[in-house]
Amino acid sequence: MKTQKLQKVFFSPTGGTLKILNQVSEGLLTPSDSDLDLTLRTPDSWQATPNTLCLIGMPVYSGRLPQLARQRFQKINGAGQWAVILVTYGNRAYDDALIELYDAATDAGFKVLGAAAFVAEHSYSTALQPIASGRPSTDDQEKARQFGAALRKKLEVPTPLPSVPGHRPYKSLKAAPAQCPETLNDRCTLCGTCVDVCPTSAIHIGQGIQTQAELCIFCCACIKSCPQQARIFTSPAIQATSDRLFAACKEPLQPEYFL
Ligand SMILES: Cc1cc2nc3c(=O)[nH]c(=O)nc-3n(C[C@H](O)[C@H](O)[C@H](O)COP(=O)(O)O)c2cc1C
Repeated sequence: MKTQKLQKVFFSPTGGTLKILNQVSEGLLTPSDSDLDLTLRTPDSWQATPNTLCLIGMPVYSGRLPQLARQRFQKINGAGQWAVILVTYGNRAYDDALIELYDAATDAGFKVLGAAAFVAEHSYSTALQPIASGRPSTDDQEKARQFGAALRKKLEVPTPLPSVPGHRPYKSLKAAPAQCPETLNDRCTLCGTCVDVCPTSAIHIGQGIQTQAELCIFCCACIKSCPQQARIFTSPAIQATSDRLFAACKEPLQPEYFL
């Protein structure tokens, strides 16, 4: 099949998913054009261009897709084009996220050519409690390029991928209490970086930095992007999760692809 172009459609608050998509795209040796970043906004509507392969990437949140990403993806029309679906996760497990993305892509009208799950640094990773720190490693990135090269080969005679790992009905999600990172006022310079990177526009500058906890999706974009390290999670529930993940997710898991 002649595919002239690539389009990346992604949700990536802390950049791990986008990093992997860029490597897959390098392996495909096809230039990417008019990408759609769902991280900060919902598009009015969006239709895949003919003869274009879509690379769709999202992180795993609680073994599922982030609900916000899934919601924003509903504006997408695959228009019968081929897509590759990819999830990144923080070395715990991807559970039902890949099958949920498979269903979302096919429901949107894409034909799924291939799928993958890669490890990227966990959003909750810190210098004191690293979780999948340094991932994607050079080796992960090489594997992502190899996956891209294998997709290029498969595109010569494309066939749809019949299934991916995961269960239906998907893992149920527990409602989390409203909580959000705090700002350390003695460090904060009110530069506004946290405001700019928040996927839900939950952060505003008023009397200092104000965050609407009920909008926070715990993505940690504000924490990871703060040039002064002035944003931290102090919530005991988040700390308990980080402690558990730090203890349990030390053995490095490897990328998986399905073609
Ligand atoms: C709220 C939340 C839930 C998460 N749940 C999981 C999970 O179930 N399994 C896992 O391995 N990683 C989990 N992670 C880690 C992310 O999947 C991982 O850091 C991902 O690469 C982040 O993607 P991004 O850098 O593109 O934002 C979670 C992260 C957040 C913020």
